[in-house]
Amino acid sequence: MKPDTIEATLPVIDATELRRCLGTFVTGVTVMTALDADGQPDGITANSFSSLSLDPPLIVWSLRLQSRSFQTFKNAQRFAVNILAQDQVSVSNRFATSGVKNFAEVPHTLGLGGVPLIEGCASYLECSLEATYPGGDHELFVARVERIQMNDKKPLAYGNGGYLGVEVLDKG
Ligand SMILES: Cc1cc2nc3c(=O)[nH]c(=O)nc-3n(C[C@H](O)[C@H](O)[C@H](O)COP(=O)(O)O)c2cc1C
Repeated sequence: MKPDTIEATLPVIDATELRRCLGTFVTGVTVMTALDADGQPDGITANSFSSLSLDPPLIVWSLRLQSRSFQTFKNAQRFAVNILAQDQVSVSNRFATSGVKNFAEVPHTLGLGGVPLIEGCASYLECSLEATYPGGDHELFVARVERIQMNDKKPLAYGNGGYLGVEVLDKG
């Protein structure tokens, strides 16, 4: 059988089913923060975040091309990964909703380069952008970790389309 014939028999992946399937992979929840071209703070909830490399220290996440925050992150030299704690569902929802990302109502401090760090998170990674790569309807952002901070708070998790708590089953 020729390779192109094999490909023709593959099933079409339904987008809703794909989203449901991917949703079984439980993640943490982050808010990525940066300053836009006018120096105004911007942020977006993202669970596509992942560790990439320890040496050098690199992380990766992906951003929808159609996001209103796309130009902010494409142009920003720095951004911060705010890893949300279990009591920050409202923060996640705020930064997952277009148009209500006003930092005036979100307690925060300023990190490296004036990038906002949202108060009360489980941890923070302050990063400088290394490279971006095309990824279908998203763009991949690879960044170098320049500073980290950790608080003693339970992390927020996300899976099967909803927010989850984290329960330790085995110390491993
Ligand atoms: C838990 C959660 C995780 C999300 N992860 C991502 C992500 O990794 N990348 C992304 O582009 N959008 C992600 N989104 C959607 C964006 O947060 C949302 O589309 C965006 O904030 C809408 O505003 P915008 O139109 O200004 O981008 C996620 C939403 C939620 C609730």
